[in-house]
Amino acid sequence: MAKPKFYVTTPIYYPSGKLHIGHSYTTVAADALARYKRMRGFDVMFLTGTDEHGQKIERRAEEAGKTPQEFVDYIVGTIKDLWKLMDISYDRFIRTTDEEHVRSIAEIFTKLYERDEIYKSEYEGLYCTPCESFWLESQLVEGKCPDCGGEVELTQEESYFFRLSKYNDRLLELLETTDFLEPKSRAREMINNFLKPGLEDLAVSRTSFDWGVHLPFDDKHVAYVWVDALFNYLTALGYPSKQEDVEHYWPADIHLMAKEIVRFHSLIWPALLMALDMPLPKKVFGHGWLLFGGDKMSKSKGNVVDPVVLCNRYGVDAIRYFLLREVPFGSDCNFSTEALITRINSDLANDLGNLVSRTAAMIRKYFPQGLPDERETGSPDSELRQQALELAPKVAVDLDELQYSKALTEIWALVSRTNKYIDETMPWILAKDPAVRARLATVLYNLADVQRIIAVLIEPFMPNTPGRIRTALGIPEQNAAGRSLTDWASATELDLYCAPEGVPQSEPLFPRLDLDKELEALEQFAE
Ligand code: MSP
Repeated sequence: MAKPKFYVTTPIYYPSGKLHIGHSYTTVAADALARYKRMRGFDVMFLTGTDEHGQKIERRAEEAGKTPQEFVDYIVGTIKDLWKLMDISYDRFIRTTDEEHVRSIAEIFTKLYERDEIYKSEYEGLYCTPCESFWLESQLVEGKCPDCGGEVELTQEESYFFRLSKYNDRLLELLETTDFLEPKSRAREMINNFLKPGLEDLAVSRTSFDWGVHLPFDDKHVAYVWVDALFNYLTALGYPSKQEDVEHYWPADIHLMAKEIVRFHSLIWPALLMALDMPLPKKVFGHGWLLFGGDKMSKSKGNVVDPVVLCNRYGVDAIRYFLLREVPFGSDCNFSTEALITRINSDLANDLGNLVSRTAAMIRKYFPQGLPDERETGSPDSELRQQALELAPKVAVDLDELQYSKALTEIWALVSRTNKYIDETMPWILAKDPAVRARLATVLYNLADVQRIIAVLIEPFMPNTPGRIRTALGIPEQNAAGRSLTDWASATELDLYCAPEGVPQSEPLFPRLDLDKELEALEQFAE
């Protein structure tokens, strides 16, 4: 039977400077979802990339004394390095400067023009270059851009317009009657702030700069960067000229992003697709912001936290864990290095790390040749085993609902329960009495077996740690009958293999950190 497909995207980021931990947040969330879906047997298409055209990039390149292409090539290199460092398992990386994308955008504009979905007129209004957004006087907040608070420029140009207003009612119905946009509060915002007052047609070309896709039917016009960018989700699949992947993967199952660009994805994007008679994505999800000292972290505000520094210092899995655990996905969260270090110490070093190293040390000490086959069950076993067996279905529901933090909280409840099991069974006391060796072996086996399940379930979040747990505890990747002990199904059963092999000495998974020392050390990297 053919695998079901799952198509997940991140926004394509502006290569106007190095990315910060806020960009990593969306990408790590998308990656965890993609890994989870792969583990559940889906044929996953995970797309990310870069949004390289527009006035902002053109200006940045000029400031740097480079051509726009040289400028973006360098930054895109750093972005790809970052995703490699953070174990982002994307299937495709699209750049809007890719020749194929540029050709596709030209074709798409021609299509829209031929269908009379775009028409030529005069644009007179206000433009925010950092956000690449058009605004009406009435939408400004104290004369500034309502999104970033920056200056807007009075713009007067001949422009092509997309008949966005024509789709107002269909969009209203989409947002009012379906789960297209989540969380629901964002849908209400779109309805009240934009759809109820009524959308205006959208200027979709510019003539005042050059760095973009020139329209084939009117060469002095360059495609509006947001339209150029939104179509990446389709051009990456080959649209409009190559149909195979489009037919297979489209519509996208989920577009992930933070809330400030939900407007583009839940109003302009579906309207453009309607204009082309294309199916709409199944879901747009606008998560919250990582805030830094109360502000949205952004390059222009100078308070960036560099994910490369953090990953190199604390390990990728610790950073991924923190991002997905600390922040309930829809809400904003204050990012602080103090919170990060506290989390690493309590959840990773104390809870998980100690559990694994205590178990490994006991297996090594009491059964250097590996566990014998004799077993003897005892009283706390069934409670632990039941909690372990109930976990995978819960985590599955949470991840299907994008509740990363809840999923991790539930996994860590089992980590705690397992630590408690050690305290209850006191293997060091059992070890003193040769008559209860079978009981001791059972306790250690249960410990390793439950941690085998934990290792599987943390894989979407922390791809490197499961292998380290298995090595530390002597758990093979397959049992003697060749059955995988690393796939999702293996997390739904206990007793899948005989016993941990004799285990080698291993490094602690997550060394404990000294908060004061770390804060001091990080000081030099603060921007
Ligand atoms: N190029 C557009 C997106 C086009 S998609 C067709 C863009 N780029 S961006 O570089 O500014 O990236 C914005 C996205 O990066 C946010 O929507 C979010 O996914 C992520 N984040 C950037 N800063 C963030 C935080 N401080 N917190 C959470 N997410 C953040 O907009």
